Amino acid sequence: MNGRDLTLGALAGLAVAGMVAKRRRGSRDESLASLTRGVLRLPGQAPIQIKKLGAGAFATAYVTTEMTPPVVYVFTPDDVYDKELLAMARDAEPQNPHLPKVEKVGETRDQFIYAMPLYRTPLRKADSPSGWKDYAILKTCREDAYEHWDPRRLVGKRGYQINEETVTCAEATGVSPSTLEALRILVDTAANYSDDYVFEFSPRNLATDEAGTLVLLDPLFDREKLQAKRQRERRKTEQAFRGRGW
Ligand SMILES: Nc1ncnc2c1ncn2[C@@H]1O[C@H](COP(=O)(O)OP(=O)(O)O)[C@@H](O)[C@H]1O
Ligand SMILES: [Mg+2]
Repeated sequence: MNGRDLTLGALAGLAVAGMVAKRRRGSRDESLASLTRGVLRLPGQAPIQIKKLGAGAFATAYVTTEMTPPVVYVFTPDDVYDKELLAMARDAEPQNPHLPKVEKVGETRDQFIYAMPLYRTPLRKADSPSGWKDYAILKTCREDAYEHWDPRRLVGKRGYQINEETVTCAEATGVSPSTLEALRILVDTAANYSDDYVFEFSPRNLATDEAGTLVLLDPLFDREKLQAKRQRERRKTEQAFRGRGW
């Protein structure tokens, strides 16, 4: 990461924050998208029929039902930037086949909407033996980087450090050069945003494209945000139990 990247990252962050503030001030806005009863309306476009495809901790993905090829629309809360990071990584290296083709296409009052191709997920060995080999390397390297930190330093590793170590290990273990390049771009892009984005590699968050190439569909998550969300959910469940007199 260099000074220029840092400045660009900070500027991008400010631009997003400004957009969010502006959107929250206005109650009705022609420039906002909407999703009602399976119909997505993006400003200036014909209504798009979609159905739910899947959901993760933060994002919900929908796929078009009347388009060839189908398009996936992913909705994320507007304070979750992992899809934004993927879009920036893709912009930085459009030729890299492992970076998903993510593009921001709209926003609602509290969500961002991204479009991308429909990939085949979860990752299966039969769909891409070479992708599976990369996945196995990434999984082991990430686990090693995450778990084997020095407990005497008391504080856990930051996301950037975990990601850097994962990449160094993946290179030493023989991950494919193009996957390595994608990872490097992701590490730098994530670090420009915050130190909390950490790699995670699971078949559910990996995919293949129509050529059988490994796609890093959802390789980063915000550790702090996920922990905060889990805590909120735990508290809610506890309150519900207490409410029933348990
Ligand atoms: N482009 C896509 N093609 C196919 N499935 C997708 C696509 N994007 C998302 N999905 C599905 O939606 C799920 C949730 O999306 P994801 O980006 O992983 O959300 P989160 O960031 O909350 O984990 C994924 O696990 C996957 O099953
Ligand atoms: Mg996911």
